[in-house]
Amino acid sequence: MAYRHIEVRRIAGALGAEVHGVDLARPLSAEVTDEIRRAWLDHLVLFFRDQPLDLPAYMAFAQQFGEPVEYPFVRGLEGYPKIIEIKKLEHERVNFGGIWHADTTYQDKPPMATTLLAREVPPYGGDTLFANQYLAYETLSPGLQRLLDGLHAVYSSAKADTTKTREDRMQDSARDDVREEYLAEHPAVRVHPETGRKALYVNVAHTVRFRDMTEEESRPLLEYLYAHQIRPELTCRFSWRVGSIAFWDNRCAQHNPVNDYHGFRRVMHRITLAGDRPSGISAAAR
Ligand code: SIN
Repeated sequence: MAYRHIEVRRIAGALGAEVHGVDLARPLSAEVTDEIRRAWLDHLVLFFRDQPLDLPAYMAFAQQFGEPVEYPFVRGLEGYPKIIEIKKLEHERVNFGGIWHADTTYQDKPPMATTLLAREVPPYGGDTLFANQYLAYETLSPGLQRLLDGLHAVYSSAKADTTKTREDRMQDSARDDVREEYLAEHPAVRVHPETGRKALYVNVAHTVRFRDMTEEESRPLLEYLYAHQIRPELTCRFSWRVGSIAFWDNRCAQHNPVNDYHGFRRVMHRITLAGDRPSGISAAAR
């Protein structure tokens, strides 16, 4: 269906589109919000250029699409507990969230969506990659799809490769109420509550094993899936400018910021929107 109020330009075959013709600093009409949501469900991640919103306007933009929630590890900004700063400083070597993942899938109700607004960008590098997890599922063989349809996975916040990407921020911005570990179980393939499509839901950052299996037993299949789900043809790549916004569907897309800009600062503001409990069964069959 065509758009009447916005212009949508795909940036890759698998997912991702730039949206033009909107000023996100102003309240959006219901028609524009509906078209953005439709484009978001179709393309999984939307990008907006030249939107240097102040904090109240950024929060108001996010609230038009869902309910902002706090991040369990890092404190939010002064006066804006639901906006966190994602940054890598000149002297730091590790970037926050620098591993393929969907956000906080170790929670019982992981966020539906995440939005990131670029405040400071390096002169080169610091792009973010995204991968389409509908396609990751659909490009598996029918036999493997059937096997995965019946499996649940266990997700943890404490995998070593992931905790190290948070270490710098845990030193200067940790929340007072931070827990040692968050653990959750979800279907390995979730049915998207709005589109009804199936998406592969395991991710290398947070998935530990399949339910009722050991880590050793789970590892060969998980490793196959981790490699499969980020094949280049399932991805897109976004180059940031100050004022760029990305808005992604955390239920069917993964992301990975590229750490190729040592010696330079990169500062982003992130808001996540509340999600539901992932289900492996379509709403109609529940
Ligand atoms: C994240 O939210 O995982 C960080 C993404 C980025 O810095 O591009």
